[in-house]
Amino acid sequence: MPKPILISGIQPTGRLHLGNYLGALRNFVELQNSGKYQCLFFVADLHSLTAADFDAAKKQEEILGVARAYLAAGVDPKKSSVFVQSHIAESSELAWVFNTLAPVGELERMTQYKDKSAGRESVNVGLLTYPLLMAADILLYDAAVVPVGEDQLQHLELTRTLARKFNNRFGDTFVEPQPLMTKTPRVMSLTDPSKKMSKSLPEGCLFLDDSPADVKKKIMRAVTDSDSKVTFDPVQKAGVSNLLLIYEALSGKSVASLEKKYAGKGYGQFKADLADLAVVALAPFRELKPKTSNLKAALAAGDRKAKKLASAKMKDAKKKLGLL
Ligand code: TRP
Repeated sequence: MPKPILISGIQPTGRLHLGNYLGALRNFVELQNSGKYQCLFFVADLHSLTAADFDAAKKQEEILGVARAYLAAGVDPKKSSVFVQSHIAESSELAWVFNTLAPVGELERMTQYKDKSAGRESVNVGLLTYPLLMAADILLYDAAVVPVGEDQLQHLELTRTLARKFNNRFGDTFVEPQPLMTKTPRVMSLTDPSKKMSKSLPEGCLFLDDSPADVKKKIMRAVTDSDSKVTFDPVQKAGVSNLLLIYEALSGKSVASLEKKYAGKGYGQFKADLADLAVVALAPFRELKPKTSNLKAALAAGDRKAKKLASAKMKDAKKKLGLL
C-alpha cells in the first residue's frame, strides 16, 4: 500500500517568523518524520499575489526564502517533495474548473474573504476565488490529509464539497481530503499580545532570520505587567502567558513546570532564559542556509514529482469534463 499523500503550502509574503515555525514548519517536519505519509510541501506563490502589498521586485527572493526555510526546518528532499505552486500550471487550470462549480455566495461567506474585504472599496477577484485555487492545490495530488491551521479549515471544508460535487456530477475523480489539526500554540505579538505575531508588528515579531542580538532585545522588551509573577493567566496576564506558551513550545517543558521553576524569580531571568532558547531554536534558519544550487535541485525534483501527479489528474478531470 502506498502511503497516503499529505500536502500543505506556505505563502511567500515577507519574512517568516516564529508563528510560522511553531504553527506550521515544525509540525510539517514532524509529520514527515513520522514516516506515515508521502509529503508534498509547496510555496504558495500564486496565492500571495492576492496581497494588497505584493511586491514583484521581492517575490523571487521571498519564494526562495520559504523553500529555504522548509529545508532549514528539517524538510528533507529525500523524504518529501518541495515545489513552487506556479510551476505547476495544472493548479490554475483546475482552479478555473472549480470557478464554474462553486456558487459565488459560498465564496462570499468565507470568513477569510469577509475579513480581508471588510471596509475596502475594491478587492481583487483573487481574494474571493482564493479557496478554489487552494482546492485545486489539494485535489490535484489526491491528498488524503492536509495539515492546516484553524483559519484554513473552512477552505478545506469547501475543498471537500467541491470534490464531492465534481465526483457526483462527472464521475469519481478526486479524493476527499481530511484536515489534520495538530495542537500548535497561537503565537501572539510580543508587543501587543492581543494580536497574532505578524510582520506588520515587527518589534513584537521574532523573524526566523533575526540576529541573536535582535531576538534577545525583542524578548527582553516583550510586554509583561507589573506584578512580576511568572504565572499563566491569558486574560489578566496576556503578555506573560504568551511568553510561557512560547517557552513551553521551544523547551517541551509544561507551563505548570515553568511556573514552578520561576516562582519568586521575577521576569528578568525568565525572559533571559527564553531568549537563549529562542536563539538556539532559530539557529538553523540563520546558519543552515542551504546552497542555492542545492535548493534549486531540490525544487526541480519537487516540481517533477508534482508535475507528474498533477498532469495525470488533470488529464483525468478533462476527460470527465468532455474536454479530451
Ligand atoms: N491558504 C494557505 C494559507 O494561507 C496556503 C495554502 C495554499 C495551502 N494552498 C494550500 C495550505 C493547500 C494547504 C493546502 O495558509
